[in-house]
Amino acid sequence: MTRRLRLAVLASGRGSNLQAILDSIDSGRLDAEVALVLSNTPRCLALDRASQAGITTCCITNKASGGRANQLARIHDALVKADVDLVVNAGFNLILSSVTVEHFQNRMLNIHPSLLPAFAGGMAPKPQRDALEHGVKVSGCTVHLVTDELDAGPILAQATVPVLDDDTPDSLAGRILVEEHKTLPNVIQWFSEGRVRVEGRRTFIVPEPVRQQIAEAAG
Ligand code: GAR
Repeated sequence: MTRRLRLAVLASGRGSNLQAILDSIDSGRLDAEVALVLSNTPRCLALDRASQAGITTCCITNKASGGRANQLARIHDALVKADVDLVVNAGFNLILSSVTVEHFQNRMLNIHPSLLPAFAGGMAPKPQRDALEHGVKVSGCTVHLVTDELDAGPILAQATVPVLDDDTPDSLAGRILVEEHKTLPNVIQWFSEGRVRVEGRRTFIVPEPVRQQIAEAAG
């Protein structure tokens, strides 16, 4: 019997994307379990949401770790110990160590509130503000694999929204967030079904599980 996809969700603030993942699991649209919610911010809403759902939480701050290097090492250890299949950065404002990125190669996602590669870097609402100031007519969100280059890993999915004449960074962020809450659980479900194939910078969502394709090719 194959086990359910085990997730670690990393979040620093509000945790609405975490909530979308939990709701998708509850409603049966996502076949996965959140094994760990990890934060770098004490008493954030994401940790409250996780505790309310009875999920193991862990908060690893810079201060309590005695500096950034130790903090990143402790985060790495917590993720490895949790024995997760996929790490999901859902509003996490810390860049993980190269060791962690390599350990979870092709098994770590990030969601960013712009159509990458446009307006990479920074945390919401900066990318939304940058998009508005640039004058784009469409924006959206991107779910991508995490590599050592910030917001530049292979793209798994994007969703678009219009930019309206009277938008503010907040109103645009709200419209993008609606799409984030659908896109992120959908992508995780593709992983759960073993349907994500990565070829260099390109990713493909195949109809059959990748494992089965490999077995067929070999046999
Ligand atoms: C989301 O909009 C997410 O795309 C963004 O932070 C917000 C977190 O909201 N992430 C980034 O800006 C990453 N660079 P949430 O805590 O309610 O899920």
